[in-house]
Amino acid sequence: MKLNEHLKDTDEGIAEIILLVADRAREIKKAFLTHNFNSGTKNMFGEEQLELDKWADKLLIDSLRNSDLVRAVASEEQSEIVEIVKSKGEFGVVLDPLDGVSSVATNLSVGTIAGIFNEGNVLEKGNKMDAALYVLYGPLTTLVYSAKDGVHEFVLDHDNEFILRKENVTLPEGNIYSPGGLPINYVNEHRQFISQLESEGYKLRYSGSFAADFQQILTYGGVFSYPALKEKPNGKLRLLFEANPMSFIIEQAGGKASNGTQRILDIAPTAIDHRVPLYIGGNKPIDLVESFFRGEGI
Ligand code: AHG
Ligand code: MN
Ligand code: MN
Repeated sequence: MKLNEHLKDTDEGIAEIILLVADRAREIKKAFLTHNFNSGTKNMFGEEQLELDKWADKLLIDSLRNSDLVRAVASEEQSEIVEIVKSKGEFGVVLDPLDGVSSVATNLSVGTIAGIFNEGNVLEKGNKMDAALYVLYGPLTTLVYSAKDGVHEFVLDHDNEFILRKENVTLPEGNIYSPGGLPINYVNEHRQFISQLESEGYKLRYSGSFAADFQQILTYGGVFSYPALKEKPNGKLRLLFEANPMSFIIEQAGGKASNGTQRILDIAPTAIDHRVPLYIGGNKPIDLVESFFRGEGI
């Protein structure tokens, strides 16, 4: 079944935005050959931008601007919310145009992440989100979406069509752990959590590309973390563009996402560059880490 057929019972505007991102993803996939070099600029987080980063950002924003569906876009590569004043539409979109860019040089998988709000306010709690998706550019190009009706995975086929690969994906119980941050900078609660996972036989898999590491958790089960660190008390990952869309998807798949003390989707963003410590995966490891943060241990 093709993606557009699968979306036939989804809200029309949401379906159109998902299809629009899918169309642009086809182009981004090809651009890895042509746009893979440093642009010489940095984003609002002070990170080097690949030319591909900026190009993908412009491609997606221009496309959303022209769709007449979207009122506002917040992108990891833009320091301000992009307001589309002339748009007839009311949707808000949050975007990480290219996630895991450092993996482009090493030819590991990278992604595109997006979240969609029915009402154009993008500086909003994740629990107001109406749909989320990510594209993973790996050996296969896959698209995973949820519009509050389960999680569904599609794969780009020989005819450049996204075809259903797995319907109603649910998170299995598993024992992969994917820990971001340097151990020397761990806070105590996080150190205890990681030790406990290791003593339970969890297996380490970390690529440095969140979308890829997330996909691994969704496939095999376990937990991804990018914790609060001594030098970075808010962690690294961005609430709007990374944590919220993926937390929306993990909950739809039967899992959980937390900053250690609070559900990610209930956190009110204070600015578009709001960062959060992130624990995302199975119920068991998320409950465990929260118990360490409550000072209860196991
Ligand atoms: P982005 O490429 O969008 O800037 O995101 C990078 C993020 C995320 O993909 C990944 O989980 C994390 O940064 C990796 O950070 P470390 O290099 O510190 O492991
Ligand atoms: Mn990212
Ligand atoms: Mn990015």
